Amino acid sequence: MTKQDPEKKKRRKDLLDIDSISVEEIDFLVKTAQPFKELFTRSVKKVPTLRGKSVLNLFYEPSTRTRTSFEIAAKRLSADVTNFSVSQSSVVKGESILDTIDTLQSMKVDYMIVRHSESGVPNFIAQNTHASVINAGDGYHAHPTQAILDTYTLKEVFPDLTRKKILIVGDILHSRVARSVSTCCRKLGIEIGVLGPGTLIPDSRPDYMECFKDYATAFAWNPDVIYLLRLQRERQQAYFFPSMREYHNLFGITSNRFETVKSEGIYIMHPGPVNRGVELIDEVMTYERCLINQQVENGIATRMAILYWLQPGENKIRKPNTEIRGKS
Ligand code: CP
Repeated sequence: MTKQDPEKKKRRKDLLDIDSISVEEIDFLVKTAQPFKELFTRSVKKVPTLRGKSVLNLFYEPSTRTRTSFEIAAKRLSADVTNFSVSQSSVVKGESILDTIDTLQSMKVDYMIVRHSESGVPNFIAQNTHASVINAGDGYHAHPTQAILDTYTLKEVFPDLTRKKILIVGDILHSRVARSVSTCCRKLGIEIGVLGPGTLIPDSRPDYMECFKDYATAFAWNPDVIYLLRLQRERQQAYFFPSMREYHNLFGITSNRFETVKSEGIYIMHPGPVNRGVELIDEVMTYERCLINQQVENGIATRMAILYWLQPGENKIRKPNTEIRGKS
């Protein structure tokens, strides 16, 4: 990771989704995250890579993992980090996104990490700022950094991902995680199955997704990994299934299904936060092949790699408009 690193020439300004990045770029991020992860075992966990740069966390929606891990990642790269508190800002007085961005850009921020409930907001912001914009989750659209950290986690378990099988379970319809993770898996040659209530599996899903009607047929497909999605009650406009209990009985990792998971050696992943008793029973959290905490740990190293990789645009000093002043 020196200035001579040839990969640096290929850096982008923004990371907005997985569709627009190549397999080579995904491989580069995974490879770059490795030495960053090794730092975590040292007494000094910092490197000077982003010394003098400023990173702004701009979260219009709640977050535990993504916001915190970006903050830690940026600090471990020696950047200065500001957490913009939307609820304490002029956003609550009706300030528009464009005016907020214009204001923050005037403060010469280098990186903006953006989460918003509306799909497309990070793309809009990226078009209106010189700062590098990282999509930290927008509406139903994309959560690219989750997909990169999941890829890194999968690679730790399976160095060769080709033809491995991942079963994504739950609310595929409302899940930006499912969209980004499945796109990333597809690019890397991983086979993808989906399982969930018929109302939460989109009819427009791509052909490469194998759709299962129940766990019996899904287990017969021999998945290597079960990726459980969080049931997003806050995004559901209508009732998509009768009750949480029924969801758990049909699509959760119950005691019986956990026996199959263990006997088949299937790995468990989940982006968090977990709804215990809905997506899984408590015992799954301490299963030796449960990767949920490893995903969180890898979130820091992969986000360090992403910050390292992106190249903010030129941040020009705004000149006073003398022409208008002269007329007044
Ligand atoms: N996985 C994820 O996005 O979690 P947070 O909502 O806590 O950031």
